[in-house]
Amino acid sequence: MATLVVTNISELTTNDPTLGDESRVGRLVDAALVVDETQVLWVGSNREAPDADESMDAEGRAVIPGFVDSHTHLVFAGERSDEFEARMAGVHYDGGGITRTVEATRAASTEELTRGARRRVHELLSGGVTTVEIKSGYELTVEGERRELEIAHLFSDEVTWLGAHVVPLEFRHDRAGYLSLLKSEMLDACAPHAKWADVFCDRGAFSIDEARDVLEAARVAGLAPRLHGNQLAHSGAIELAVELDCASVDHCTYLEDSDIDLLSASATVATLLPGAEFSTRSPYPNARRLLDAGAVVALATDCNPGSSYVTSMAFVIALAVREMSMSVDEALWSATMGGAWALRRSDIGHLGLGARCDFCILDAPRAAHLAYRPGGNVVARTHRSSGVTSQP
Ligand code: NIG
Ligand code: FE
Repeated sequence: MATLVVTNISELTTNDPTLGDESRVGRLVDAALVVDETQVLWVGSNREAPDADESMDAEGRAVIPGFVDSHTHLVFAGERSDEFEARMAGVHYDGGGITRTVEATRAASTEELTRGARRRVHELLSGGVTTVEIKSGYELTVEGERRELEIAHLFSDEVTWLGAHVVPLEFRHDRAGYLSLLKSEMLDACAPHAKWADVFCDRGAFSIDEARDVLEAARVAGLAPRLHGNQLAHSGAIELAVELDCASVDHCTYLEDSDIDLLSASATVATLLPGAEFSTRSPYPNARRLLDAGAVVALATDCNPGSSYVTSMAFVIALAVREMSMSVDEALWSATMGGAWALRRSDIGHLGLGARCDFCILDAPRAAHLAYRPGGNVVARTHRSSGVTSQP
């Protein structure tokens, strides 16, 4: 298998505490990296870089692990910029617009949906994302949810069934009927096409008991649980996520002390989505309290047309640093290793020996530029283990 040496790296973030400065982000200066087509083979000082079949000169720029965007809703049609404008003028977000996207998505052809998802995946990749989780949840019919999962699968193995996003309009007088469809026919059709099941467990969406029922049925069908929780209110979703050993509970905009205690004593990651708070003018989650209590925090885009039409992990990092009091290194770790934990993956999110060789060369000497130059194209080049290289 061909090997590649990347030389003249000004600052290499590995997220492997046994490497470099032995901090949590495992940082080396004046470094080099050797990979083959699938994994990291060697990390060390530039002076000691071994020969390889090919070489790439980083020209004094920083290298970081590829971002792991562990929460997106990329398969949809239409847009809702009118809602965004209304929110900026003071209207409150309550998830009510989801049914508009459901209508537009149901009406779209499979080609149209695939084209839209591909464009957004390309945007993410150009911005340094090398693993992306993608959810269904904008058709809410048996065939439609399966169709969304099949499209998602074209771009990722991290595919999540979110049939329990909201109760669709045609079931508004028959909630029990929709819940029963979710747990029977829809789950049967969707389970073979997904790895995860998710529920929007919040005020106006699904209750704790409904979410537990759906996720327990999904687990029997082979899907591992994750949860949207506490985006709109203190809904009790954190307790449920920990009870079910969800890989992650996402949003966590509203947190009680008891939620933080539960999370820090569990294997459930708190995935924060500051693009959603930005785009809905909501309070940012208290990342500091989570981190100080020892909880594992991930950062993701939540890319969707309603609450967070964001495809830039660098922007998410900038928000986390500016608005949520995370240090640059904490935010970078959460956007890479945190995302890997949220997907229960140990092969991605870091550049330790044997990790997948997913990395980004930044157009900057230090990773701090991700937050320091918000809105700029700080990611110069994305390298993925499949050998796919994308340059914006
Ligand atoms: O994660 N909150 C639930 N689902 C999405 C928003 C969906 C929408 O508004 O279209 C979210 O923010
Ligand atoms: Fe979401």
